[in-house]
Amino acid sequence: MTVPYSTDDAGHPAPSDGFSQSVGANGPLLLQDHFLIQKMAHFNRERVPERVVHAKGGGAFGELEITEDVSQFTKADLFQKGRRTPLLLRFSTVAGELGSADSARDPRGFALKFYTEHGNYDIVGNNTPIFFVRDPSKFSDFIHSQKRRADNQLRDHNMQWDFWTLNPESAHQVSFLMTDRGTPKSWRHVHGFGSHTFLWYNAGGEKFWVKYHFRTDQGIENLTAGEAKALEATDPDAHRRDLWEAVKRGDFPSWTVNVQVMPFEDAADYRFNPFDLTKVWPHGDYPEITIGRFTLNRNPENYFAQIEQAAFEPSNLVPGIGASPDKMLQGRLFSYPDTHRYRIGPNYQQLPVNAPTSPVRSYNFDGPMAYANQADPVYAPNTAGGAAADGAPYSGEEYHVTGEIVRSAYRLHKEDDDFGQARTLWDDVLSAGDRANMVANIVGHASAPEVTADMKKRVVEYWTNVHPDLGAGVAAGLGTPA
Ligand code: HEM
Repeated sequence: MTVPYSTDDAGHPAPSDGFSQSVGANGPLLLQDHFLIQKMAHFNRERVPERVVHAKGGGAFGELEITEDVSQFTKADLFQKGRRTPLLLRFSTVAGELGSADSARDPRGFALKFYTEHGNYDIVGNNTPIFFVRDPSKFSDFIHSQKRRADNQLRDHNMQWDFWTLNPESAHQVSFLMTDRGTPKSWRHVHGFGSHTFLWYNAGGEKFWVKYHFRTDQGIENLTAGEAKALEATDPDAHRRDLWEAVKRGDFPSWTVNVQVMPFEDAADYRFNPFDLTKVWPHGDYPEITIGRFTLNRNPENYFAQIEQAAFEPSNLVPGIGASPDKMLQGRLFSYPDTHRYRIGPNYQQLPVNAPTSPVRSYNFDGPMAYANQADPVYAPNTAGGAAADGAPYSGEEYHVTGEIVRSAYRLHKEDDDFGQARTLWDDVLSAGDRANMVANIVGHASAPEVTADMKKRVVEYWTNVHPDLGAGVAAGLGTPA
């Protein structure tokens, strides 16, 4: 077989695939062997930092199709009936590092990037409709408690329970995590949620609050704690493999796209704070409406370029869609572009996977690895025929807010407590089998050798606050008085 000659990175024919240049066959090497120097130097720079959270993941490309008319709620081009929009979806676990096992007990990241006609729209969600905390100032402390100790670099269940029990607003999400949904069978078998509340506005300027629900068409399937543990040992990449193989054999997974829509004015005196990320909106109050479906139908050709360097950011919003006052969302609007500038570089949006398919006419330019360079004029406004801002697509996003500058948690809505919705999950959603597994999963987790007797008491108290039966089950399992 004839193969083409290989080259160095500048296109020069490579002199050898196996021999460095030396003084005599057994002599020392030469600094002038720039083929060798380039090879070694480039290898040393092969990694970008892994994501500080959600490091282990995988993903695929696909397409969203909108089947219903929701123009009365939003003018966003990607949500207009009949519109098809290309997308990328990356799944992940949260706390583990790049090489960690896919079947670990953890939420699953569900990060969507839609390549729309008005720039990219990202919904960076999870497989849970809620989160552990409701203020971004707690996020890094929460993540630190889930990752590794400073002294021995070990994961530590005692510090995980310490954080959770000191932050009771976590109870709803920890309940979810401790059911078998904390160990899904595969990424294809999870629902996705935008989790936050977002603003939608229509062409007439009417506003609505929305939540996204992506319902898996494959059905929910989970692993038991035992199955998940076993899979960690036998196939740590099981979920990455499952998705890749399904797409490769043409068994394209899909999700039905539903939204809950709340009239703008309802937010003020809804029974829960509608911007509290630890709460759901019960379906009896705001039913899910189906608006379309998306399918994953193409694997990445290059994992590093298209998945490792993919940069999702809740701040990628498009006309017709805005942020809500959810404090967590507000914090995330800053955090993601900031981490991308650090992890990938300030021009991360020029990489093909992150670049919009619509035109970019920005006055931000240059910087490390700039590829798309600015033409004159280089400033705005100008009289030289350069592009000018047109705010018209955003008309409708404005709304009035007022208040004192404070540092406090909201407790303004009738049912804004920390345990109520977790109790509803236990009482009304979980089957008897789900409950038994949840108790066993909590007991297993809190039985790790590092969890102290005092901490076990706090664990029992935490779950008793959710439901006395749950507390009693955990107490019995841990051998700790309720
Ligand atoms: C990834 C910060 C809350 C879902 C990340 C990353 C950071 C971060 C820095 C790494 C991004 C990267 O390197 O590409 C935060 C902060 C939060 C927060 C500061 C709260 C204030 C949440 C919430 C969700 C979420 C509430 C889900 C509802 C994700 C997902 C990824 C991610 C899915 C992985 C994205 C990907 O696949 O590349 N987060 N996060 N995060 N976060 Fe968050």
